[in-house]
Amino acid sequence: MTQDSKPNGTQFEGKEEYVKDVFTEIASYYDEMNDLMSMGMVRGWHEFMMKKAGSIASKKCLDVGTGTGEIAFMLAERAGAEGEVVGVDITPKMLELARSKMAGRKLPKDVAFEEGDALSLRYEDSSFDVVTSGYMLRNVTDIQRSIDEMYRVLRPGGRVVVAELCKPGNRIVRFFYDQHMKHRVTRLGRKYDRGESIDGKQPAYDWLTSSVEGFPHGREMAAKFTQAGFADAKFYVKTFGAVNIYCGRKN
Ligand SMILES: C[S@@+](CC[C@H](N)C(=O)[O-])C[C@H]1O[C@@H](n2cnc3c(N)ncnc32)[C@H](O)[C@@H]1O
Repeated sequence: MTQDSKPNGTQFEGKEEYVKDVFTEIASYYDEMNDLMSMGMVRGWHEFMMKKAGSIASKKCLDVGTGTGEIAFMLAERAGAEGEVVGVDITPKMLELARSKMAGRKLPKDVAFEEGDALSLRYEDSSFDVVTSGYMLRNVTDIQRSIDEMYRVLRPGGRVVVAELCKPGNRIVRFFYDQHMKHRVTRLGRKYDRGESIDGKQPAYDWLTSSVEGFPHGREMAAKFTQAGFADAKFYVKTFGAVNIYCGRKN
C-alpha cells in the first residue's frame, strides 16, 4: 500500500464514493465480521440503545445508516404493529441484505428499508419519535450535518441514540484493543477483502479499523449533539471505551 492510497484522517476527497464501494464490497460478510470485531458484544450495545430510546411501542422510528438492518429489527420488535420503522442507508447492497434477512424474521410489522443520504434525509421536519444510528458517523463526510438532520426529523420530545466506535483511553486497554484491531480484525478481514484496494485507497477492513483513529468521541462528539439543538446530550462508555453511545432529546 502506498502512502497515497491511505486516506489522510477521517475526511478525504472521494470519501462518499469510497464508503459506498467499501460497504458494497463487504455487505455479504458484514454481519459475520461485525460479530467478530465486537467479540459478540454488539447485541448488548444495541439492547442498551433500545433502553436509552425510551418507550418505543407504537412509535415512529428511523434508523440512519441502517446497513443490514439489525438495529432497525430491534426497533420493529419493540414498536409493534401500531408502530412504524424506517431504515435508511446510502448503499443499496446493504439494504438488499437487510430486506432478505427480514424475510426470515417474525416482525410485528415490516421495516421500510429505503435508500437515502444521512446528510439530506428525505423526511419532513418533526416526523419521527425516535432516531437511532449505529457506527455510521465515521463514514459520513459531514458529521455535524448528519446530526443536524437527525434533530430536524425528530418531533419535539423525541430521542436520538447513536452508537460509534472509539479508541479506549486507558493505555492498557488500548494495547489489547490495538492488538485485536490490527491483528485479529484486519487478518480476518483479509480473508474476505483479500487486501484489495478500493478506488485506489485502502482495503475495506483497513478503513473500518483505521477510521476509528483520531475520530471525535466522548465530550467532543456529545458537543456536536448539543450544537444541533439536543437538550441533555450525553454519552455512555461501553466495553472499556471501545464504544460510545450518545443520547439526546429534542425539546
Ligand atoms: C458500519 S455500517 C453500520 C450498519 C448498521 N447501522 C449496524 O449497526 O450494523 C455503516 C453504514 O452506514 C452507511 N452510510 C455511510 N454513509 C452514509 C450516508 N451518508 N447516508 C446513509 N448511510 C450511510 C453505510 O452504507 C453502512 O451501511
